[in-house]
Amino acid sequence: MKSLRRSASQDDLVFRIDKMNLKGKTIILAITGGIAAYKTVQLVSDLKKLGAQLHIVMSKNAGKFVASLSLEVMSENKVYSSGLLRQDEPRNDDADIDHIKLADKADLVLIAPATANCMAKLATGISDEIIYDLVLATKAPILIAPAMNTNMWQHTVTQQNYRKLKSIGYHFIDPEHGELACKHVGHGRLAEFDSIIESVCNLIGVEQKLAGKKILISLGATREKIDPVRFLTNQSSGKMGFALIEAALAQGAQVTAVTTMDLPHRADKVVRVESHEQMQDALRQEFPDHDVLIMVAAVADYKPKAIAAQKIKTQQNLTVEFEQTTDIVAELAAGKKSNQVVVAFSVETENALEKAQDKIKRKNLDLIVVNSPAAFGADEAEVSIVDAEGELTKLTKSSKSLIAKKVLDCLNIPSKIVG
Ligand SMILES: Cc1cc2nc3c(=O)[nH]c(=O)nc-3n(C[C@H](O)[C@H](O)[C@H](O)COP(=O)(O)O)c2cc1C
Repeated sequence: MKSLRRSASQDDLVFRIDKMNLKGKTIILAITGGIAAYKTVQLVSDLKKLGAQLHIVMSKNAGKFVASLSLEVMSENKVYSSGLLRQDEPRNDDADIDHIKLADKADLVLIAPATANCMAKLATGISDEIIYDLVLATKAPILIAPAMNTNMWQHTVTQQNYRKLKSIGYHFIDPEHGELACKHVGHGRLAEFDSIIESVCNLIGVEQKLAGKKILISLGATREKIDPVRFLTNQSSGKMGFALIEAALAQGAQVTAVTTMDLPHRADKVVRVESHEQMQDALRQEFPDHDVLIMVAAVADYKPKAIAAQKIKTQQNLTVEFEQTTDIVAELAAGKKSNQVVVAFSVETENALEKAQDKIKRKNLDLIVVNSPAAFGADEAEVSIVDAEGELTKLTKSSKSLIAKKVLDCLNIPSKIVG
């Protein structure tokens, strides 16, 4: 983020911010009614440049200092005001739980600028606007950037509220010294954006561990046509693949997805396939140019020997002859360069560890993530990450996002692809 560079003395800060991003992170920016509210349009833009998703909630009074339309345009999301919806919007059936939905999806709630009034309400648990409902309902960290007249900031009550909020675990970016809108000079100015963004990154930033690495991820269930309307497939939902794409992008990797389904996340390159054969062709083409292949796709083991040209007529007993497909990951791993890494996912129901180690050796893999059939379609799974030496990590019921991060942590990628 070169735009955040301010002076040579801040090189340490800039260095750390350059190594972080906020991709895949959801920040709720709560704006209250202080003069500094007008600055938040730029703050939204800076946070978005680091990859964050921004949702904005405003106090009733904040709307006097900054236009919700500007914030809506900059954040590319609906802005929530004092009520649960903007006043000019019709209510819908979900309106009453919007603040809960926001609270649940937040990785961080940033209150900037926070007025003295806001701090007082937070300190007492008053919940008369959406901002306060949300703060009480969320489990995400709360980061507060106060801004106010010096005397208001130094007032005993404000300072008591400040200390109380800190003692219950709320984080602060203290106001800075300088000339204020009221022409007073002293503490009370909204902290500079560098400081706000540094605090945000310290709380939820993701280190760019995979910067410069190219990761190929296959995902989804393949479909093997039987006739023009029927196909053979399996229960893979693609959720583990989505989580891996998101985690790899967040850590700075360049990601190519070879997928049988639409992606909810942006990958740098997306190759849409349907059958085993299309997936094989796409992966054969892409693999030589990547540092890592993570094979999460559930590829059909069998396909019909022939695809019927016309819809097969309904009949009492139908026999379809299937033939075995080729093992794509084994073929690619057999030909991998010494500095390429291949990870496979494998569903096992018994002797998982031994089978995984045997597969690693037989197929020249680097890692296997052992899954159970219960993982299909679920948001959570129980997995073991295994290498040729044995089990590296065992995760009891964990979110697929956490599993994705652990898989990426276990990658041991040599520095350069040599031809
Ligand atoms: C022009 C103007 C500027 C204000 N600036 C601030 C400010 O910077 N900080 C603050 O705490 N209050 C400020 N106030 C007072 C707040 O707007 C007032 O306390 C209000 O009730 C805050 O509402 P809210 O916290 O619900 O947004 C200002 C008021 C006016 C009229």
